[in-house]
Amino acid sequence: RIKAFVFDLDGVITDSAELHYQAWSRIASEQGIPFDRDYNELLKGISRMESLEKILERKPDACFTASDKEALAARKNDYYKELIGTIGPQALLAGIETLLKDIVGAGIGIALASASRNAPTIIERLGIGHFFQVIVDPADIPHGKPYPDIYLRAASELRVSPKECVGVEDAEAGVQAIKRAGMFAIGIGSSEVLHEADYIVPDSSFLQLQDILDRIDNQKD
Ligand code: G6P
Ligand code: MG
Repeated sequence: RIKAFVFDLDGVITDSAELHYQAWSRIASEQGIPFDRDYNELLKGISRMESLEKILERKPDACFTASDKEALAARKNDYYKELIGTIGPQALLAGIETLLKDIVGAGIGIALASASRNAPTIIERLGIGHFFQVIVDPADIPHGKPYPDIYLRAASELRVSPKECVGVEDAEAGVQAIKRAGMFAIGIGSSEVLHEADYIVPDSSFLQLQDILDRIDNQKD
């Protein structure tokens, strides 16, 4: 029986994945580094510094010191914070609020497993903090996605077994983390990127609690 849902934030609950993309685009263009949406797929779900490293890899001749990198990561975060400044409850993606209410109504737990240090601010701005029993602090998790650690921590803080959890992600690294944690994985987005997921939907409006639970039951038969 499913006892908890563990959600990613960016690109799942709200469209902040697009805002991360815009902020990184600005950094890349300032540095004269090629950057596009395809390459951005590799950054989804991974930490700020790992994302920066992946962008800088594309300018192999340049030499960036540790303090250059700190400054670039901080500037990206300033751009990002500017972009999330206007987020409010209207920025919840279609179907998410109903899903959260249905999950709580069914007596199932909810946790957040986002790599973003801005996650608590966004959850508060969206006005959905009361749905979450656990918000994992990514600063406590040394190995980010695709390692399963953040999902395993969510399960342990909820006091449930990973097998009793459903994870919801929009990123390839995120789906891999859910699967390695031993959870049922829902991928939101393109089936090419998210092929390792157990159930893929094109966008969040397709997510229906009863439908998800039925699919999990059928998979066990
Ligand atoms: C999530 C997003 C990434 C982002 C990371 C760190 O995993 O999918 O795009 O880089 O969080 O976010 P932060 O807000 O801490 O820079
Ligand atoms: Mg995401």
